[in-house]
Order: sequence, then C-alpha cells, then structure tokens
Amino acid sequence: MINNQQESLFIRAAQCRDTERPPVWMMRQAGRFMKEYWEIKNKYSFLEMCKTPEIAADVTMLPVDLLGIDAAILFSDILVTAEAMGGDLSFTQGVGPKFANPVRTATDIENLQTDVNDRLQYVADAIKVIQQRLDGKIPLIGFAGAPFTVMSYLVEGGSSKDFKLTKLMLHNEPGLAHKLLDKITEVTIAYLNLQIAAGVNAVQIFDSWATALAWDDYKEFSHQYISRIIAGLNRKDIPVISFCKGSSVFAPLMAEAKPDVISVDWNADLLDIKKRLGPEMAVQGNLDPHVLYADKKVIKERIYRLFDRMKGEKGFIFNLGHGIMPDIPFENVKYAVEVIKEYGAA
Ligand code: CP3
Repeated sequence: MINNQQESLFIRAAQCRDTERPPVWMMRQAGRFMKEYWEIKNKYSFLEMCKTPEIAADVTMLPVDLLGIDAAILFSDILVTAEAMGGDLSFTQGVGPKFANPVRTATDIENLQTDVNDRLQYVADAIKVIQQRLDGKIPLIGFAGAPFTVMSYLVEGGSSKDFKLTKLMLHNEPGLAHKLLDKITEVTIAYLNLQIAAGVNAVQIFDSWATALAWDDYKEFSHQYISRIIAGLNRKDIPVISFCKGSSVFAPLMAEAKPDVISVDWNADLLDIKKRLGPEMAVQGNLDPHVLYADKKVIKERIYRLFDRMKGEKGFIFNLGHGIMPDIPFENVKYAVEVIKEYGAA
C-alpha cells in the first residue's frame, strides 16, 4: 500500500515534486486564536496539555478539523527539551515562558542532563495517538527548537527583547556558550530521532531568534549546530524544514546545513530566495501574519500576489513568515485557507 502521507501535497512540495496546488499550514495553527483551544486551556495548564497525549492530540487536531489545512503540527513547545534537561519551566498567562533556574555559569551548564529521551516519552506517545486520529489523511510535522533559540530562554530565564545576557555569554565567554550549545544539540538530535521513530512525517527546526545575531555569530553559534542536528537525523524520506527569523539574510547559509525546506520570514521576496537556492531546495512562507488582521479583500489580494509570484515553481509551501498571533480573528485564518485552496481553480 502506498503511504498516503508520503504522497501528500505537503510532502511532495517539500521534496520539490509536482503538486496540483501549493499546500498550506500555518505556524501556531493550534493555538489561542481558536475558542476551542481556550475551552481546553481553561481546564489544564499549558504543560499539562503538552504532557498528556490525548489532550495534545485533541489540540493538534483542532486546525485539521476546523481549518482544513494540509499538514498537522504536533502540539508541544520548543522548550520541553530544556525542561527535560533540568530547566524549572513554567508558562504564565501574559508573561510567557519562565525558567526559575536560569543557566549562566559553568556549574549551571554541567548540571544540565543530556540523556533525557525517557522524560520526553510523552511526546512519542502523543505522536502515536495523533497518527491514529489522522488516519493517513494528512502528514504530521514534528519539531524542536534550534540550539541558539533554546539557549536564549535558558540564559535569559524567559523571553527577551534584546538577548542581552545571551549575547554577553557568546561574546565574553564563548567557551561556555559552546558547552551549552553542544549539550542542547545532543539532546535535540536524540529528541527529533525519537519523534521520527514514533512516526512523524516531517520535522521543523525553529530558530525564531536567530534574527538577533550578526552574520559571523550566526555561523558560529547557530548554523554550525543546526548543521550537526540535520546531519544526525535518521531522516530517510522525512523532509527537514529549517525556520528562522532572519532567513531573508541567512537563507544561503541555512541551505548549507542541507535541510529540504527553508521557511522564510516576510522581509524577503520569496521568489528571489527560491531562485537563489535552486531547484532542489523547497521554500515555505512567507505572508506577514499581520495581513490576517486586515480586511478580507486585502487578505485575498496579498495571498494572490504571493501565489502569482510563485506560479509554476515546484517546492513552494504556503505559510506565514512567523506564527499566528493570538488575537487574529479565527474567521480571517479560515478565509485565508479557503482562498489558498481555491487559487488554482480561480
Ligand atoms: O505551531 C503550533 O501550533 C504547534 C505548537 C507550538 C507551540 N509553540 C505552542 C504554544 C509550536 C511549534 C511552538 C514553538 C515555539 N515555542 C517557538 C518557536 C516558534 C515561534 O513562535 O517563534 C517559541 C519561540 C516558543 C516558546 C514559547 N512558547 C513562547 C515564547 C510562548 C509564549 C507564547 C506567547 O506568544 O506569548 C510559548 C507558549 C505557547 N506555545 C503557547 C502555545 C499554544 C501559548 C500557551 C498558552 O496557552 O498560554
């Protein structure tokens, strides 16, 4: 039997094969812009949701059932690896993630554990439940945070605007920074391989805050580690997507790490990036998520503009340049998916 998921629109586009139309999914598609998400969230904490396979599966399925997207993404968070390593993680409404024990000294780094897949078994369990629910209809994307982005949360102790402490460590104590990045990298390789073994059909690496880095620092403290992760995956025919904010600038370097797809922020002309990367590298993106606040007429115009630009290109997956914001109207997201699916027929 042909595996439907491996022949899906999404996987074919990720592999630069022919598709009838570009597939669509959106970062943060399983989240707070949906009232159905809040119905679950009001009963459990965010980490309880991530750690209970049935609940993680329920949330993963919301955009599948309510939006009709072409790929599901595992409901979890990039910080679960850091928690498993020993980070005392909590999520507070309106504050975001916090680590009560930030990692700033050599001893803090030594105390972090790396043999942690047992503690992340709940993710493998969630993947199995989700795949039963998806029943082969669309593929499931697994994910992890890139070492630099995960490191920034551990060092800052939470979200940051300027990454002051993280950059200070890179600049003043690069040896320490490399020790920390090494540990996160080792954990991330094992964790993504656990997801692949549990049955995900693709994986995405999120380097959301790489945009804060200068070119040389990106090379030394991010790119090098992402390359090691990608080289360490049991990827078989599982596409690897590399996302960073900053991809408009870093895309050529990102390509050297040999992912299958580069997910592009909204600053770049997507066709220009695609042409520079060549016919064998797929691109994903790159609508400014703020467009989804606008009038429907504008949403349609901007989607058509992007699709007209990418017409005839193999290896194009529609996505946003970053995640859906929590206060974007649900009906606008639903409308965007409809417009995308109708585009070919228009
Ligand atoms: O995309 C999806 O729908 C799948 C699930 C997913 C979440 N986080 C759920 C989530 C994914 C892929 C992530 C990745 C993630 N988490 C990233 C990389 C992508 C990006 O947006 O840049 C980052 C940087 C994080 C870290 C994180 N987790 C932050 C900063 C926050 C606070 C949220 C905010 O925007 O204020 C979270 C919490 C989080 N992760 C929520 C969700 C649905 C909200 C939790 C809640 O209900 O309070």
